[in-house]
Amino acid sequence: MSTTPRHMSLGAFLMATGHHVAAWRHPDVPANAGLDIQHYRHLARVAEGACFDALFVADSVAAAEGEIASRMARSDHFEPLTLLSALSGVTERIGLVATATTTYNEPYHVARKFASLDHLSGGRAGWNLVTSDAAAEALNFGRDEHVGHADRYVRAREFHQVVVGLWDSWADDAFVRDKNSGTYYKPEKVRLLNHHGEHFKVRGPLNVARTPQGRPVVVQAGSSPAGLDLAARTADVVFTAQTSLAAAQAFYADLKGRLGAYGRSRDSLKIMPGVFIVVGESQAEAEDKFAGFQELVEPEVGVALLGRMLGNFDLSGYPLDGPLPDLPLTDSGQRSRQQLLSDLAKRENLNLAQLGRRIAGGRGHHSLIGTPAQIADQLQEWFENDAADGFNVLVPHLPGGLEDVASHVVPELQRRGLFRTHYEGRTLRDHLGLSRPNNPFFS
Ligand SMILES: Cc1cc2nc3c(=O)[nH]c(=O)nc-3n(C[C@H](O)[C@H](O)[C@H](O)COP(=O)(O)O)c2cc1C
Repeated sequence: MSTTPRHMSLGAFLMATGHHVAAWRHPDVPANAGLDIQHYRHLARVAEGACFDALFVADSVAAAEGEIASRMARSDHFEPLTLLSALSGVTERIGLVATATTTYNEPYHVARKFASLDHLSGGRAGWNLVTSDAAAEALNFGRDEHVGHADRYVRAREFHQVVVGLWDSWADDAFVRDKNSGTYYKPEKVRLLNHHGEHFKVRGPLNVARTPQGRPVVVQAGSSPAGLDLAARTADVVFTAQTSLAAAQAFYADLKGRLGAYGRSRDSLKIMPGVFIVVGESQAEAEDKFAGFQELVEPEVGVALLGRMLGNFDLSGYPLDGPLPDLPLTDSGQRSRQQLLSDLAKRENLNLAQLGRRIAGGRGHHSLIGTPAQIADQLQEWFENDAADGFNVLVPHLPGGLEDVASHVVPELQRRGLFRTHYEGRTLRDHLGLSRPNNPFFS
């Protein structure tokens, strides 16, 4: 039996000025953070100094624009793969997880870019495979309407199949680059994909050798039944929003329970719920800190964010002091988040403005506002009771919020033996405790 203690994983979910919708107005936050490489270099070093498993960068391929968007800092930011490529040069160990959509992309491009990132970072790349939860993306890709929920997932499944097939184009030892014999690669060690499917026709091979991790880590974040099914088949890591220990345990049991049907072990997929963390020396100080951000939220801005998180609805015509209106099941957005937020409004009897303010920080992710010990208690409880293998950490503002977690919460977790004090491995798979996949065509 292994004597190595089980450690939790931690992801640093980076978002320009921070996750709080009003963070950019805070005096300690650079308002231009979304396009400031020095800012991101600093964040990467802070997260790596605290031994986080990975940096995570979300994305959408459409700019938020309009009257309300002009009062948030969500309209201009780096493209994740180029950003993480730059950050790979100033870091050594931390994983680099970028978001790329399967709805408005081609699998060859995605396979190639993540394989390239895996090579240039020495095996630290991860792909957050999403189906695009921003309806506006459609308008940038030759369509008048977003692709429907079910169709997005059908395409995503085939997309993933093609990407993985391309990553397995070459045997690990295909490229001998032997100057004496003049053999650059062994012709018997390459395989054409020749994929002919409903959505894609791709010959291959990929023009990048098999990568240090064999395949970059695949992350997913869909929590609807279709999302869970795709994750059980294909994901290495799942991000999710869960509001309570009981809900997180139910999600964990459901998803881990689906793995057997695909011949997978429970350990082959790591579940990392999002946690929105605000740290203070005392509970009161943490609450004050959070209140400082909440005061900066304009009600219309909170409600606009809410409409987006509920699945791309315009709520501007509804009274701010009225209840959340009955909305149809979203076809363009996140169904699981829509359910989570509707339940929250009912449970706490929140009007529209209150619900908008409530999600202005963590957008529905579980909030932990308190001392390092209080926060560590909760993370420990989830980790030790089959609710999480780790956490994707959201902070209200950057860089301060991440510095607080790195210098106060992480040491507390380390003292309790719940988190690493140094990196043992080199690759993201090593950090996550995931094995390197064999190439099934050459083993
Ligand atoms: C933590 C987290 C991060 C996500 N990041 C993105 C993102 O960057 N871009 C995107 O289009 N969708 C993102 N999503 C949405 C999911 O990938 C997925 O497409 C969506 O949740 C569909 O959800 P459903 O299966 O619950 O309907 C994210 C979801 C979660 C929980």
